[in-house]
Amino acid sequence: MAATIIDGKAISTATREKLKQQVTDLGTKGIRPGLAVIIVGEDPASQVYVRNKVKACVDTGIYSEKHEIPATTTEEDLLKLIHRLNDKKDIHGILVQLPLPKHINSDRVLETISETKDVDGFHLYNVGALVTGNTIFAPCTPFGVKVMIEHLGLPVEGKSAVVVGRSNIVGKPMAIMLLEMNATVSICTSRTKDLKAYTKMADILVVAVGRPNLITADMVKPGAAVFDVGMNRLADGKLAGDVDYDGVKEIAGYITPVPGGVGPMTITMLLANTVIAAERAHKLK
Ligand code: GUN
Repeated sequence: MAATIIDGKAISTATREKLKQQVTDLGTKGIRPGLAVIIVGEDPASQVYVRNKVKACVDTGIYSEKHEIPATTTEEDLLKLIHRLNDKKDIHGILVQLPLPKHINSDRVLETISETKDVDGFHLYNVGALVTGNTIFAPCTPFGVKVMIEHLGLPVEGKSAVVVGRSNIVGKPMAIMLLEMNATVSICTSRTKDLKAYTKMADILVVAVGRPNLITADMVKPGAAVFDVGMNRLADGKLAGDVDYDGVKEIAGYITPVPGGVGPMTITMLLANTVIAAERAHKLK
């Protein structure tokens, strides 16, 4: 039987409607959540992401400011800007778009963001909190997958979850979050020997490697829920995930398309984290 297609746009829209209401409610208390987005350099993909993040804030009633900094900026100047934003009362969340130019130490930049404003959840303090089961800010993409799982009411407890990919932004936090949801979790990479032996066991399969068609139908357990976080630009200009969508949708129980699956949820969870940060700053949470 063909899989149910998970409509990330619809789940994202429903989640954003709830967020808009929360923002309106905060407005009655004189509070407006605020997000600062910093982009260094002119990477075209990053520019699109940042533009979309700022637009999503506007649409949701969240205050936002975009700081566009030349690629030649010094690390010192970038850190100064972050310190300034850390001190600003109307800014509750700070996001530095990655990747940063090579001459800038990304770790140092991420550690400079106040952990209370770290809406990406990349600060070591917040990573430690996540790993120890005391989540403060969940990284946006895995957070989006979690919300999709909950929205669909998929059983997780005791199930086998396989995460393919070990990035700090998606793979590692995703695995920890699934573990927190009481799944039995395996973390694989593109180099895993006999990857199929693992993916075939997965009731929940999350793939975030950046390699088109890495996961084919023969690698998927019938009925599994497949979340494709891959975003690959093909030679013909089309966008593709890491999963052979046409083949796998005939085997899986649920599958996210690319585009229109996990992607729309990432920015929505950034908005959610910004609202949470504003509520905490005003001691409402
Ligand atoms: N670059 C790619 N994904 C992300 C993300 O989720 N946050 C930031 N800050 N940069 C990114």
